[in-house]
Amino acid sequence: MSVLEQSENNGYNLFKSMAITAEFHDRDIVEHIDRVSTYAQAIARGIGLEEETQRRIRIASVLHDVGKSSIPREVLLKPGLLNEAERLFIEHHTREGFQIIRTIEDLLRDQTMLQLYYIDEITFSMAKDIALSHHECWNGTGYPEMRRGQETPIHARIVHLADVLDALLTKRVYKEAWMLSEVMQEITQRKGTWFDPDLTRWVERHSEELIKGS
Ligand SMILES: [Fe+2]
Ligand SMILES: [Fe+2]
Repeated sequence: MSVLEQSENNGYNLFKSMAITAEFHDRDIVEHIDRVSTYAQAIARGIGLEEETQRRIRIASVLHDVGKSSIPREVLLKPGLLNEAERLFIEHHTREGFQIIRTIEDLLRDQTMLQLYYIDEITFSMAKDIALSHHECWNGTGYPEMRRGQETPIHARIVHLADVLDALLTKRVYKEAWMLSEVMQEITQRKGTWFDPDLTRWVERHSEELIKGS
């Protein structure tokens, strides 16, 4: 493993420990985080973002749902349909995630050693963008700010796609795991509505290697 990979892993594991603490209600959280961040990094690489940016996206994506710690357990773990108030609680995990990461950033600001692990202003900025905007949709129907298209930063658009991809591919309490062909049909159907069409096209062409590499 190269020195840069080692640095990346140190930063990744630091953020991952925070995510696990926040989301331990979800017993699959460790695997979910590993897969989403691997997909996000692979998509970033695939569309030609710089290597350093790819590493930062892997690290920053880990905290995408850290705001879920603010949702009452009875809402978060409720089986079946949610009422309006409960749905708003769920949607609020984006803004809460942003605030949590900002608080952590303030706390660690002067720990210059962490910059060796890519834990710096740029990665924190990405992590805040991702936490806030990983449920925004390309056509402006997402939340919390109903951003459209490129108003949502590219790293958040990437994590939106990676997160849904993994949610569909894996078994959850409310659903079975889907086959890759079914997942890709669904993703294609959401191209240009939920997902950035360019990112979706790359995933359509590389879905098998993406899944195998995780
Ligand atoms: Fe989320
Ligand atoms: Fe997720």
